[in-house]
Amino acid sequence: MARSLAGRRVLLTGASSGIGRCLAERLARKGARLIVSARSADKLDELAARLKVSGEVLAVPADVTNAEDRQQLLETAQVRFGGLDALINNAGVASFGHFTGGTEAILRQVMEVNFFAPAELMRSAIPLLRNGEQPAIVNVASMCGRCGLPAWSEYSASKFALVGLAEALRAEMARYDMDVLTVLPGLTNTDLGKHLLRNEGRMKLDYSQGMSPAAVADAILAAIEKNRAETVLGEARWMLRVKRWFPGLLNRLMTRKVGQLYAHS
Ligand SMILES: NC(=O)c1ccc[n+]([C@@H]2O[C@H](COP(=O)([O-])OP(=O)(O)OC[C@H]3O[C@@H](n4cnc5c(N)ncnc54)[C@H](OP(=O)(O)O)[C@@H]3O)[C@@H](O)[C@H]2O)c1
Repeated sequence: MARSLAGRRVLLTGASSGIGRCLAERLARKGARLIVSARSADKLDELAARLKVSGEVLAVPADVTNAEDRQQLLETAQVRFGGLDALINNAGVASFGHFTGGTEAILRQVMEVNFFAPAELMRSAIPLLRNGEQPAIVNVASMCGRCGLPAWSEYSASKFALVGLAEALRAEMARYDMDVLTVLPGLTNTDLGKHLLRNEGRMKLDYSQGMSPAAVADAILAAIEKNRAETVLGEARWMLRVKRWFPGLLNRLMTRKVGQLYAHS
């Protein structure tokens, strides 16, 4: 069933930059009542001040990996809005480089931010969402959540975990009339590449050639309004099609590319 966002109480993580910031702008324009969150309090305050002309926007700084911070987000929704209608898990980090050169600390940090934090935020938010209007959980994953890419091993693992959890929850939450939506963007022109926990991959990635965060935010908004279970965006579309129909070919292409990049090392 289609969903109107006017007056809906929405908690959005990762709102201080990139896709999250563009999505916050669009949600505010639609008349949603918003809690925008990330660690950067200054950026959130600037965003909330700018969006307040469109509607009710609360800036709540939080580190999603911190259980008390997550609780604070939900308490704010309960106290200030009287509940919650949608949770959008968008905060994320990545690490770029071959797995053998990484560390346990990096693997754990990527899993904490991209998987354990949204998982526990979902678990804690479900009691609130159950009493919400047309409730929804939206997870911004990645094409790496359906296709593991070399040099993105930790990131792929975290996004696969998130996509798998969402798939399992979809049927569990149906008994509460709660929708669980997954978004799988391809390369997007944001600061994700500047915030990498490790940047040692050899393939040159030009983020400026990726989708604009505005276009991705438009697509996420459309997915929420049209209630699309899964939305695949950008080059993720052809990549996932090739994986589905020609998995051996995709593996050969990736193997060849890695071989070329590491031919002289
Ligand atoms: N860019 C791409 O090519 C691409 C492609 C597919 C999927 N995605 C996904 O899209 C989502 C948004 O990423 P983006 O591209 O917009 O990158 P971005 O500009 O770097 O935004 C990442 C957001 O996550 C927040 N964040 C990171 N760690 C956090 C933590 N521990 N606690 C709370 N917030 C945290 C950051 O805010 P603070 O630093 O202020 O905390 C920021 O608001 C991510 O889940 C990413 O995996 C991106």
